[in-house]
Amino acid sequence: MNLPEDLPKAELHLHIEGTLEPELAFALAARNGVTLPYADTDELRRAYLFSDLQSFLDVYYALTAVLRTEDDFAELADAYLARAAAQGVRHAEIFFDPQAHTARGVPLGTVVEGLGRALDRSEERHGVSTRLIMCFLRDQPADAAMETLDAAKPYLHRIAGVGLDSAEAGHPPSKFREVYEAAAALGLRKVAHAGEEGPPAYIREALDVLGVERVDHGLRAMEDPDLVDRLVRDRVPLTLCPLSNVRLRAVDVLEDHPLKAMLDAGLLATVNSDDPAYFGGYVGDTFHAVREALALTEDDLRTLARNSFQAAFLDDDEPRRARYLAEVDAYTFG
Ligand code: ADE
Ligand code: ZN
Repeated sequence: MNLPEDLPKAELHLHIEGTLEPELAFALAARNGVTLPYADTDELRRAYLFSDLQSFLDVYYALTAVLRTEDDFAELADAYLARAAAQGVRHAEIFFDPQAHTARGVPLGTVVEGLGRALDRSEERHGVSTRLIMCFLRDQPADAAMETLDAAKPYLHRIAGVGLDSAEAGHPPSKFREVYEAAAALGLRKVAHAGEEGPPAYIREALDVLGVERVDHGLRAMEDPDLVDRLVRDRVPLTLCPLSNVRLRAVDVLEDHPLKAMLDAGLLATVNSDDPAYFGGYVGDTFHAVREALALTEDDLRTLARNSFQAAFLDDDEPRRARYLAEVDAYTFG
């Protein structure tokens, strides 16, 4: 039976560090001689009651301590790709946070080569094409982002674009104008988290100052009708993460999520999992949950799947995008 959540889709907003399941975290901790501040996986899971973005980031950064070697990063990414493939993902654009690792003494090359090893065999092993997007931590100084971009120069053949993540409030996109200019000069694509907790003005800044091609989250765009008009007119993709928004208390319950209203407004909305090990589901689970909570129609689901491929960083001259879209169109529900 073809389940709606198995629709062929692209995942465009996924932090690889956020796919670290408790079981793998403890296995890597044992392998690397790292002591976690939790007795076992049950105690760790009980810590996943977040009050906001920062309370989540505290746990997320603490758990990165178990990731030390190329093998660790390769294993993490391979486990994600297997899960994603099982939920209909055909193409994944994967964020990573170099500064979360270099700050702990793990070289950038270890991170990129480890992830790259899993990504290199992803099409063959899992049938999932991939891109890697390097995120800067916006709650760190802009100079640190520029140093990270410099350090990435030997690995640019593996990196499709740059992003901006971590604690949003008080860290507007404009802080990173120079580093985004430098990234563009290196031929990198540009995205940024904006409007997750921050105001609609941060979404405008991401577009106007950083020149981003997609907005990650963009949840709070709905507070600004002129901004919505602009996003619709310019077909700017939004990579929404509804389960994340509930877990981090940006919306109270999934039934209140603006996803359906965004689709009805003509926004190029996509559905993604953000940090699935922490937020209760991978992207197929997310499709299932929003379908139930928001009474999405089969047309809505197909639109979300089509949007994900339209918004993907696939070259227009390669046949993949057309092939994936044809797969969505040929999909029969039920
Ligand atoms: N890093 C990992 N997940 C994040 C999120 N949802 N927002 C900002 N930074 C993040
Ligand atoms: Zn995110």
